[in-house]
Amino acid sequence: TRVDKAGHKHFMAKEIAEQPVVLANTLANYLTANGEITLPDPGIDFTAIDRLTMVACGTAYYACLTAKYWFEQIARLPVEVDVASEFRYREPPIPARTLALFVSQSGETADTLAALRYCEGKADKIMSVINVPESSIARESDLALPIFAGVEVGVASTKAFTCQLTVLLMLVLKAAKARGTITDTQMADHISALRSLPALMNLGIEQGEAMQSTARKLAEARDILFLGRGVMYPLALEGALKLKEISYIHAEAYASGELKHGPIALIDKSVPVVVMAPRDTLFDKTISNMQEVMARKGKVALISNAAGIEEAGDGTWAQIKMPDCPDIVAPILYAIPAQLLAYHTAVAKGTDVDQPRNLAKSVTVE
Ligand code: G6P
Repeated sequence: TRVDKAGHKHFMAKEIAEQPVVLANTLANYLTANGEITLPDPGIDFTAIDRLTMVACGTAYYACLTAKYWFEQIARLPVEVDVASEFRYREPPIPARTLALFVSQSGETADTLAALRYCEGKADKIMSVINVPESSIARESDLALPIFAGVEVGVASTKAFTCQLTVLLMLVLKAAKARGTITDTQMADHISALRSLPALMNLGIEQGEAMQSTARKLAEARDILFLGRGVMYPLALEGALKLKEISYIHAEAYASGELKHGPIALIDKSVPVVVMAPRDTLFDKTISNMQEVMARKGKVALISNAAGIEEAGDGTWAQIKMPDCPDIVAPILYAIPAQLLAYHTAVAKGTDVDQPRNLAKSVTVE
């Protein structure tokens, strides 16, 4: 199928903008009208599983890290996450009752495929979350869940990431239900949170101007830090990755609580710090870390919802106001500012957004 930019300046811009529609389609492929989550056959018996090993590369790895928080909190399943290039050579023992789960947009990443092959005959079940159903990783899995993101052209992954997260969250809910770790009310709340996502993402995208004006300031920086706590930590990692991939600005992400163990030494008035902090149960903790940055003249760009900005926005260098959302879907919604900050920063710098130097869309050799 031929894909064009549909009036956008770059494929990446198009792929960011189409996320509400693409995601609604992904949801429709897994959710029945009465709120049941359906997986393709053969399903997975989550009562026969005691732990998960998740393996991926790049952005897909950050989707796995996000899903770890969900699997552990909601389905009470311990999860180990690793980058494929490390996993494959470490010869990790795979205990009985382990589900091995591989996440890959292309389904062809050489390291991820090798990690999958390592698990063959060792893990109880091999599962994958992929965008290309006829890919090697899909074919070699016992069960492959397509993310239905459509063709992704931009080298920096965007819509595949949010679709991976969405499918992984539905898998978590399915696992929680089977394991009896979720009540019917919680389940109904989470399903309705998922259903609200396309509209929420539209509202997020509507904040594009605030992201663009923040990005113009970020474009002047040499180094940028991203901070997040809990499930926002992988989002901070993804924000930093997107930024370095396409704007070539050095960016690093830290779990907010780790700031004092090293990176705080970097803070001065030349280092912008992007703080991803919806007003959730960990908000106060993240904000106290943010204040440590501001006390050292660090320039903070705070990404939060109205209540969060109201409470902690004073004295920040930039603010991006996201719509209120249920906590469970916050990481999926906050992918939008992570992507758009990187995109507008790259545009301000005039880099080749869709074909960044030295990077390939799919890395099929080691
Ligand atoms: C490359 C791409 C990234 C992608 C990674 C993993 O590095 O540039 O955007 O996240 O590969 O690709 P996969 O197809 O396995 O998700």
